[in-house]
Amino acid sequence: NIRSLILAGGSGTRLWPLSRKHNPKQFLKLEDTSFFQNTLIRCLEVSDISEIFVVTNDSQRFFVTGQAKELGYDLPPENVLIEPEAKNTLPAISFGMREIVKRFGKSIVGVFSSDHVLDIRAMETIKNAQLLAKEHLVTFGIVPTSPHTGYGYIKPAEKIDAGYKVAEFREKPNHEDALKYLKEGCLWNSGMFLFDTEVFFGELKEHESSFYKAFGPEIDPDAAIEEIYEKVRAISIDYGIMEKSRNVVVVRLEHKWSDLGNFNAIYEESEKDDNGNVIYECENILINSQNNLVYSKCDKLVALIDVQNMAVVDTPDALLVCPRESSQKVKQVADALHSKN
Ligand code: GDD
Ligand code: MG
Repeated sequence: NIRSLILAGGSGTRLWPLSRKHNPKQFLKLEDTSFFQNTLIRCLEVSDISEIFVVTNDSQRFFVTGQAKELGYDLPPENVLIEPEAKNTLPAISFGMREIVKRFGKSIVGVFSSDHVLDIRAMETIKNAQLLAKEHLVTFGIVPTSPHTGYGYIKPAEKIDAGYKVAEFREKPNHEDALKYLKEGCLWNSGMFLFDTEVFFGELKEHESSFYKAFGPEIDPDAAIEEIYEKVRAISIDYGIMEKSRNVVVVRLEHKWSDLGNFNAIYEESEKDDNGNVIYECENILINSQNNLVYSKCDKLVALIDVQNMAVVDTPDALLVCPRESSQKVKQVADALHSKN
């Protein structure tokens, strides 16, 4: 079996006001199950429940155990790893890898974001990449559909087993570079990885030695996590390791994948009515209005007249209205709120 490490500590600020600091995107239920629950179900394809670890923070701890329980699974409390502070994905992954080595020794670990939509059949491809993971850092690549600047771009080189050696990994390029990468046949980084714990710590030692000194498996197993976190800076795995390593391999995922990073992406992925509208959870009267996303959690009727291509998202204490195309900017609202408080 491979072990699974689920990253569930992000705040998903581009889905404000649905996603909040204390009710973030991964635990949202647009359907019967949340993104986190769907991730957990996928992980159970490759790991036993006792081999699934979740890195999160104290305020989300009960979402994690509660949502697992709702599905009928008892996630061992010691598998829920609580970060003293959110410092992006490199500390979170290093923490998880360290705990997995402490518990199980050398392992192959699937690292999973908890905020994606992914066809469960993709887990088969991930499982089959184990051989590659024994020597390389394995990423999973998605065929891109646009020059999206919120993703990592991976340039595949020569074939190796079930994958390709990676000539270049570039995190979140600007629009011009993204267009260039698109033309060169690059893949998007799906945000999922398959790492052998020894390979991972070897790369950490080479490229982020302060992280190795803080999290490395030979560090005192009883060291307090607060002190470990104080020793490292906030950085993502993509900038910290993937861009720098020369030992990256990409395996193409042919299955349906979406990051659902903003309201426009949710619109694109959802079922539309005859007028191209996507409507969640509310009574509505739409007159001559097409291609909108309408979401209301309130017991309120939503009416639109002559409105096209907008996102209208209503919650008890906040209302968002913006062109769907501007959804990527919603983060600015959350940022503005943050600096106000
Ligand atoms: N525990 C913990 N702590 N989890 C975190 C933290 C943290 O500080 N920060 C982010 N996460 C979790 C998020 O909840 C999400 O599930 C995952 O880690 C990825 O973080 P994002 O913040 O959503 O990353 P991104 O979308 O900007 O970029 C990553 O994913 C893209 C695909 O969706 C990168 O890996 C890109 O290269 C990739 O294309
Ligand atoms: Mg993301």
